[in-house]
Amino acid sequence: MYTSKIIGLGRYVPENVVTNDDLAKRMDTNDAWIQERTGIKERRHIKKGDGNSTSVMAVKAAKIALERAELDAKDIDMIVFATLSPDMYFPGGGVEVQEMMNMRTIPALDVRNQCSGFVYAISVADQFIKTGMYKNVLVIGSENHSGGLDFTTRGRSVSVIFGDGAGAAVVSRSADETSGILSTHLHSEGKHKDELSLQGPSTEYWVPEIIADDPQENIPYYPYMNGQFVFKHAVVRFAEVIHEGLAANNLQASDIDMLIPHQANLRISQFIQKKLGLSDDQVFNNIQKYGNTTAASIPIALTEAWEAGKIKKGDLVVLAAFGSGFTWGSAIIRW
Ligand code: UT7
Repeated sequence: MYTSKIIGLGRYVPENVVTNDDLAKRMDTNDAWIQERTGIKERRHIKKGDGNSTSVMAVKAAKIALERAELDAKDIDMIVFATLSPDMYFPGGGVEVQEMMNMRTIPALDVRNQCSGFVYAISVADQFIKTGMYKNVLVIGSENHSGGLDFTTRGRSVSVIFGDGAGAAVVSRSADETSGILSTHLHSEGKHKDELSLQGPSTEYWVPEIIADDPQENIPYYPYMNGQFVFKHAVVRFAEVIHEGLAANNLQASDIDMLIPHQANLRISQFIQKKLGLSDDQVFNNIQKYGNTTAASIPIALTEAWEAGKIKKGDLVVLAAFGSGFTWGSAIIRW
């Protein structure tokens, strides 16, 4: 068995800052409600004409990760791309990255596990490296949420939460057995699939029918979230899957140097922090600046924490996510 290790990280967010007050001009909401319920102060949105898309942002983050890994795009053996907001319905964004980065005809796998997407993608990369099949895997999470949200009052409970951005990690084979990805733990519970979902356009709500039926209010083409239901499950599953990962490695919560939770809601992160008995220094949050960027949230946060010098060699870093599906997972990493 080989060891796999994150050797390069990158992030990209669009320049366009959208504050809570900006949103209050478009719908019946306010800064106090958004901050109190979610912790979010502002988020980034792609601006029409700025050249960004889910795959373009992915490439920008990936180039930084590659440079820091001191690798060339030609060295990458596989792309694993997590997103719920691809540029096209099909093919997925992985092949766009392969083309834009002028890579070899390597496999490009698209992961559709929403907020858990990056943890799932890291797990996939880890398995391909540990079996010896590939040496360097590019793992990306990227989202263009602003292109598909309802910015009227009808959609306010969802649209104030989500933001755009991308993060990337180069996961590589390593000879050092004392560090790297120790284990990953993944779960799903499909009976709750409707609680956080986007139903159309799809084969169930297919485009011609949508056009024929027309009455706009009946078309489920904006995301739906049963917020309180999701919240209640999130706090349980986050703690569970972190404990599962720690136990598998004979570790305890007090051993964690840095927990990077998926940035779903600051209240969820604070709840988990308390449940695990962690100090402020042991948990990284940046939802205040970017909102919830779904598959991109963990790689953006991980990159920022690393850039700020909060992650050092030998540290125990834990990634954990929960979201639509429901799906959830954790990754236990010795840096
Ligand atoms: O990343 C994937 C996983 N996602 C999550 O984990 C999200 C989990 N859920 C949440 O974060 C929270 O449930 C929300 C932030 C989505 C909502 O917070 P909440 O405390 O659960 O509020 P609520 O949905 O119970 O709504 C409370 C009130 C309602 O009004 P009434 O019925 O009490 O009169 C809503 O209509 O707040 C109203 N409301 C808003 N008011 C101002 C909903 N959205 C807004 C808004 N601005 N944007």
